[in-house]
Amino acid sequence: MADSISVSPNLDRQGRYQELIPQIAALICGEEDIVANMANIAAALKEAFKFLWVGFYLVKGDELVLGPFQGPVACTRIQKGKGVCGTAWQQKRSIIVPDVDQFPGHIACSTFSKSEIVVPLIVDDEVLMVLDVDSEEKDSFSKIDAHFLGKILSKLESIQ
Ligand code: SME
Repeated sequence: MADSISVSPNLDRQGRYQELIPQIAALICGEEDIVANMANIAAALKEAFKFLWVGFYLVKGDELVLGPFQGPVACTRIQKGKGVCGTAWQQKRSIIVPDVDQFPGHIACSTFSKSEIVVPLIVDDEVLMVLDVDSEEKDSFSKIDAHFLGKILSKLESIQ
């Protein structure tokens, strides 16, 4: 296994995802432990894009509970419909927040977070977890991130 993630800094966001995805596939290939794979996915995304925070919240009963992540410490539990994560869960869709101050009910785990994207993993119409990514810059995320983060999340679909 390579000891680090390698993405070309001169590529645009899409190009960097295209370089990163095969490396993530190799990282999790043959590993059946979902927590281990979530941990490496969070680390790979953080390393490749230098995001402020990358992590997972898992649906456990009627709330989301913090899973593997990279970045500053974060809130451990989020209710359905609360914050960006709980809203993505409730609405079963990805949510892109260009400016966290403009999102009603945004939960500020870090004052450095300026924009955010949350992508749910949906299996059989049920949300199993969400992938949350925070940036220190406003307007960091687009549909390109939603697309590729969804592709990365789907690699966990068969491992539960
Ligand atoms: N901002 C999120 C909470 C999680 S932290 O960003 C890590 C939200 O509003 O759901």
